[in-house]
Amino acid sequence: MSRPTNLVNSWNEWDPLREIVVGVADNACFEPTEPGHRPQLRTPDGGSAPFPTGPKPAEMIERANEQLDGLVRLLESQGVTVHRPVAPDLASPLRTPDFQVENQYCVVCPRDVMITLGNEIIEATMSRRARYFEYQAYRKLVYSYWNNDPGMVWTVAPKPSMADSMYRQEFWEWPLEERHRRMHSSEFCVTQDEVVFDAADISRFGRDIVVQESMTTNRSGIHWLKRHLEPRGFRVHPVHFPLDFFPSHIDCTFVPLRPGLVLTNPERPLREGEEQLFLRNGWELVDVPQPTSTNDEMPKYCQSSKWLSMNVLSISPTKVVCEEREKPLQDLLDKLGFEVFPVPFRDVFEYGGSLHCATWDVNREGTAEDYFP
Ligand code: ARG
Repeated sequence: MSRPTNLVNSWNEWDPLREIVVGVADNACFEPTEPGHRPQLRTPDGGSAPFPTGPKPAEMIERANEQLDGLVRLLESQGVTVHRPVAPDLASPLRTPDFQVENQYCVVCPRDVMITLGNEIIEATMSRRARYFEYQAYRKLVYSYWNNDPGMVWTVAPKPSMADSMYRQEFWEWPLEERHRRMHSSEFCVTQDEVVFDAADISRFGRDIVVQESMTTNRSGIHWLKRHLEPRGFRVHPVHFPLDFFPSHIDCTFVPLRPGLVLTNPERPLREGEEQLFLRNGWELVDVPQPTSTNDEMPKYCQSSKWLSMNVLSISPTKVVCEEREKPLQDLLDKLGFEVFPVPFRDVFEYGGSLHCATWDVNREGTAEDYFP
């Protein structure tokens, strides 16, 4: 198949990968405590020590960069073109008309900020103050697509205020019983008053887009995506995982690998009825095995769960990149007929994610298929 002239073209999470962005750890800071986020140390005493602030130590940044560079080498050896963002200064305090925050975070996880939907690139609204300006690290690249691909559509979603009034502060204090009681209400730390979504709450299945309601994506955000995308031929499906009490980003919960196959999280089933779209169309939902680390064994500053294990990156419908320690998952992928590429990635976890999070695919072969006719 000859390469089409459009540079921006990616319709799903699995088609053969041609061009991708991999984050960098340069200039990264510890994530600040703010209304939309309460970072905690993974210590046996349950995080009574304060979470550090300001720039991350140079050795930590170097270790993460080595693993990110390792992923880049693997992708390049598979014929994929790789771009990297340019990290701006992230250590200075930030002030807008509506909020202040002591520092920004990092540019390791483009997945959270940027998404390709067909020939369109959308910059998400974001949900946390420290990540409000993260899109800036990708602007140079977006301009190069804009200047060289006349068919490319560039959309910047409306920025929310991120003022105190946008958040529900009590969320963080709710005891477990309260969370259980509210399990089906889908009310988290962000209210419904403004349009809020992170790009990583979206998963792409050709014409169909699945969006998780979460701490980082509210119903107004999903409504905006519907009104923006449905006239362009997409169908937007909200999904929920009621047993995840701190949901954020769908790619450790529901991970499609090829037409007909989604990896699912055994501790986070879909809301009853939401699996029907997939089952009706002959898709298989396959639970992944337990991760090799417990939540307590995750890196000290990591805020994600052990389910980063399933945050894999597809090079094609038959080739998957997986964290090197996750042998049980690698064995499952092998049984399902995939060629598995293990890479070390644990030093990246404290920057917000694993292999899928740390990337943003801009070009995959293929077109807008209808998998759910
Ligand atoms: N909230 C997820 C978990 O802990 C982590 C999601 C990471 N994904 C991402 N795109 N940054 O299970």
